[in-house]
Amino acid sequence: MPGESEAKEKKNFQPGVPQVKTDAFFLRGSGGLDWGMKSRLARIFSPKSGRTVMLAFDHGYLYGPTTGLERMDLSIVPLIPYIDVLMCTRGALRSVIPADTRKPVVLRVSAGATILKEMSHECVAVDIDDAVRLDAAAMAAQVYIGGEYEHDTIRNLSELINAGNRCGIATLGVTAVGREMARDARYLGLATRVIAELGAHFVKTYYCPEGFEDVVAGCPVPIVIAGGKKMPEIDCLTMCYNAVDQGARGVDMGRNIFCADAPIAMARAVAAVVHENLKPDKAFKMYEELKGEMKGRKKKG
Ligand code: 5RP
Repeated sequence: MPGESEAKEKKNFQPGVPQVKTDAFFLRGSGGLDWGMKSRLARIFSPKSGRTVMLAFDHGYLYGPTTGLERMDLSIVPLIPYIDVLMCTRGALRSVIPADTRKPVVLRVSAGATILKEMSHECVAVDIDDAVRLDAAAMAAQVYIGGEYEHDTIRNLSELINAGNRCGIATLGVTAVGREMARDARYLGLATRVIAELGAHFVKTYYCPEGFEDVVAGCPVPIVIAGGKKMPEIDCLTMCYNAVDQGARGVDMGRNIFCADAPIAMARAVAAVVHENLKPDKAFKMYEELKGEMKGRKKKG
């Protein structure tokens, strides 16, 4: 009898204790999102540091087998334990990334052009069903503000946000800078703000030495920076330090990690800067030491 068993159970409703609040969320501009979206964002950004190290290796969709990505099974897979997020195409994911890595995926879903043509001429190449099948935590699309096909790339992003919102999958808007355009605070401020206003949940942009703090301040959602062309490791670590110091929530970096002299050492040094605010000189020392250890191990082996 229900009445009998209930009488025996000792209930503990504690009516005088207010329910623990769960509505505060650690990411800028994300407090009003639904549970699934927040949960996915909390896989991308560490709830402890509020930051992320995303490894970008989606370049092949534009550049083909570019330097460092000729064999992603050899160059990217060994880096997986040292980064927080995989940012790649569905082709790379399905063909070379083991499904038991447990790292969240930010899926590159815009495509349609290559370096041989006008790069802003993109469409959405992956439907939301496939993003769900691939367990994507977020989808990423390029937006070419001021580019020839600006309107189409804004529409691509908006369509993705609509589809992602239906399924609780976040959207990363990527500020793609055309060849002729200046990467200054005025342009990046415009591009990041437009992308955030369209509803992207986080924005990828470039670091600019002058006025980056204003770019971050004017963008109501988290910003992560791209690495850009390969540069000396100390310069890259300095850029990462300055970017997070000025408000970036981490990096979405490719060539400066997978083309480094010692990619694992670089991934670990970047992570120490991003998550622990390690100063650039110390991070570079860490990089050099790890690189030395790895070379020593290789010689012995
Ligand atoms: C390509 C991208 C790349 O993911 C981005 O440029 C990051 O890579 P890198 O650090 O090598 O610049 O968005 O369009």
